[in-house]
Amino acid sequence: MTGGNRGLGHEIARRLVQAGQTVWIEARDAGNGRKAADRLGAGFVQLDMIDDASVDAAVETLRARVGHLDILVNNAGILGEVTAPEDLTADQVRHVYETNVFGLVRVTHAFLPLLRKATAPSVVADHAVRQDDPRRPLQCGGRRPDRDRAPGDGGRPDPLAFRPRT
Ligand SMILES: NC(=O)c1ccc[n+]([C@@H]2O[C@H](COP(=O)([O-])OP(=O)(O)OC[C@H]3O[C@@H](n4cnc5c(N)ncnc54)[C@H](OP(=O)(O)O)[C@@H]3O)[C@@H](O)[C@H]2O)c1
Repeated sequence: MTGGNRGLGHEIARRLVQAGQTVWIEARDAGNGRKAADRLGAGFVQLDMIDDASVDAAVETLRARVGHLDILVNNAGILGEVTAPEDLTADQVRHVYETNVFGLVRVTHAFLPLLRKATAPSVVADHAVRQDDPRRPLQCGGRRPDRDRAPGDGGRPDPLAFRPRT
């Protein structure tokens, strides 16, 4: 669960733990993250979506501790500043894209090897990434059965098909 230290991610994690699932949350701040994880009864990894090294380290921790990942919940994200158009700069928008778009792709890409080790892997997102809305900038989980095949599988649609859209 990315962004599991507070907000929606924390509540989703709480309910998954309550349902008996093994949950790992991530947070940028290790102090906050560990506290939240202890509260939840979840595992914790430090991760900043916009930092390659921290994402790779989180993958290594999960690889060593669990060995596979059944579900990646891409929850973490930022709203960005809500300002009048006159005050909105390219840098403000770039930071939102760095997190919500490129960060999400970075995290998903890095965790794919662990997801591939699960029996029925899945990637879900609870923010501005929708598979059914063409106005959204990124499509996650939308599949083209004629094209998206699991590697090494003769014809089975790939459950992790992931395709950026513009
Ligand atoms: N709440 C809503 O009504 C609503 C509506 C539409 C979409 N959403 C989306 O749903 C998701 C959760 O919303 P929320 O209301 O729970 O948001 P929130 O309370 O602001 O929590 C966002 C979470 O994302 C984490 N995060 C932000 N940037 C990160 C980064 N670079 N690397 C790792 N973690 C990062 C935050 O960590 P820190 O504690 O370190 O900041 C926090 O845990 C967000 O993506 C949000 O955009 C929410």
